[in-house]
Amino acid sequence: MRLLSFVALAAYLAVASASVSPLNGRAMVVHETVKAIPRGFAHAGSVAPSQEVTLRIALAHTDITALEKVTYDISNPASANYGQHLTAEKIAEYVKPPAETLSAVNAWLDSHGISAKSVSAAGDILQITVPVKTANSLLAADFVQFQHIESGKKSVRTLKYSVPAELQSSIKFIHPTVAFVPPLKGIPGVTAINHVPETKREEFVELQGRAVPSSCASIVTPACVQALYGVPATKSNHSATGNTLGVSGYIDQFANSNDLALFLRNLNPTFSGSTFSTSLIDGGQNTQTTSQAGIEADLDVEYTVGIAGGVPVTFISVGDQTIDDISGFVDITNFILSLPVATRPTVLTTSYGFNEPDLPIELNVEMCNAYMQLGAAGVSVLFASGDGGVGGVQTTECTSFVPTAPGGCPFITSVGGVTGVPPQTAASLSGGGFSNHFATPDFQLGDVQSYLAGIGDQYAGLYNATGRGLPDVAASAESVEIAWQGSFWLVDGTSCASPIFASIISLVNDRLLAAGKPVLGFLNPFLYSPAGRAAFTDVTTGTNPGCNTNGFSAKAGWDPVTGLGTPNFNLLLAAAGL
Ligand SMILES: *[C@@H]1O[C@H](CO)[C@@H](O)[C@H](O)[C@H]1NC(C)=O
Ligand SMILES: *[C@@H]1O[C@H](CO)[C@@H](O)[C@H](O)[C@H]1NC(C)=O
Repeated sequence: MRLLSFVALAAYLAVASASVSPLNGRAMVVHETVKAIPRGFAHAGSVAPSQEVTLRIALAHTDITALEKVTYDISNPASANYGQHLTAEKIAEYVKPPAETLSAVNAWLDSHGISAKSVSAAGDILQITVPVKTANSLLAADFVQFQHIESGKKSVRTLKYSVPAELQSSIKFIHPTVAFVPPLKGIPGVTAINHVPETKREEFVELQGRAVPSSCASIVTPACVQALYGVPATKSNHSATGNTLGVSGYIDQFANSNDLALFLRNLNPTFSGSTFSTSLIDGGQNTQTTSQAGIEADLDVEYTVGIAGGVPVTFISVGDQTIDDISGFVDITNFILSLPVATRPTVLTTSYGFNEPDLPIELNVEMCNAYMQLGAAGVSVLFASGDGGVGGVQTTECTSFVPTAPGGCPFITSVGGVTGVPPQTAASLSGGGFSNHFATPDFQLGDVQSYLAGIGDQYAGLYNATGRGLPDVAASAESVEIAWQGSFWLVDGTSCASPIFASIISLVNDRLLAAGKPVLGFLNPFLYSPAGRAAFTDVTTGTNPGCNTNGFSAKAGWDPVTGLGTPNFNLLLAAAGL
């Protein structure tokens, strides 16, 4: 079932439901509603009236459109303002609610004896914790228990809620209320290859700095990544520049230091001894028990610490005490924005995601606004594009193509997958397609239009021809060797590609900082610029099947399988003016 969007609903209400019972003397209007319980969820009984719920109230911004314009301007290499990233304070001026909005909403809460606290960097998100009975009367709601059938995860939700009529334009939405978001996905496929023989591993190490060895067709190691994309095999000397690469961790995926040490000793001894630091938010942990090491988390730290030599890596473990209704995806942006520039990561890589149809559009837009703020502050935000081809995050039954989220957000860089040795070909798992929530942004409009002109009416109706196209770029995503729980494994997934690409960007940032220049920040206008696209090796073969189709085909130029192609480090340095 699809959630009604706020805009459509408001229009409907204007004609149909003026008569709502006043509560506390205020006329209440329904703000959001769902027609039925979404597929995959079921009722799971009532909740005790005294049970507490924590709700977030997303307030209208002062001028988010102006921030969007500024963000594009400072990220456009052709602009005189290129690289002039904004401080968190400056960003907040655009994002914070107008003072009247804040006082009106606080007065309403106060009339119910509720006090709210601000939980976002800019003060646009308020949070309250109240008993269910108070939430019900505040919002004319009926909060009950629901269960996500597949995972068994329980949640307290309502099928509709109301707000005072005079606050309707001040409150964008309140969550968690009517949104039913399935738990996060994003674990790569794992193939046991039972301990690659030691001698073989020595061979890989000797290959460092040489032409791409043929062995990289079947097993990808750091030496392969270096050879494929021209990544330096030596550590950078610039760690004092304050550059940090952020790696996000979710769903109790813990990054293990011993696994990283084992990985480096065997597969990149030049970087042996490199470690990562850890930040914990939302009750996150990073337990070091071997049996609790996560495949995804180990992969992500191994292909950042092991590739971005000398750049400090921070593993940010997001726990399950999240109330942003999107598994902490917005919480982590608030955390990063709140850090001083000197310790704030300049790149964030995430190998988890959602299927876009599972997210209500207003939550997806809210999340995208958060990534825009990171971009404006100078943080490059990268996401794996998904492992289900045109079918989304993972292979799934589908009758129309499933874009991933936040892949459709124009302010993130979506990283697809390739496989093999040069010329690399699209990995069939590579998530790609077109968003239904975000329109094609200007930076890729010509690319998308020429790709779509080329395919004519193939797949017409299965995808959104006016949507933002993804991925933007690609990197190796199959048969990638990792150390996990004390032994060696091969993994597949765009989960491999995102940390690899993020490492390359962080190495460019490292050189920029050493040269006294600003970091890259929001990447896409740079990547799609004439100089930026020249730094990519076009991938022109392979497809991303899904939904009982062969999927899209990689072709000359941008395509919704491999984007602009794979990176070339030296050409990226040149594009960045180094
Ligand atoms: C770092 O410094 C060493 C010694 O001065 C040098 O050999 C090496 O090439 C440098 N590495 C980089 C990436 O600049
Ligand atoms: C297709 O994308 C556009 C632009 O984002 C959007 O307005 C439209 O609603 C989308 N169509 C569907 C069927 O979702």
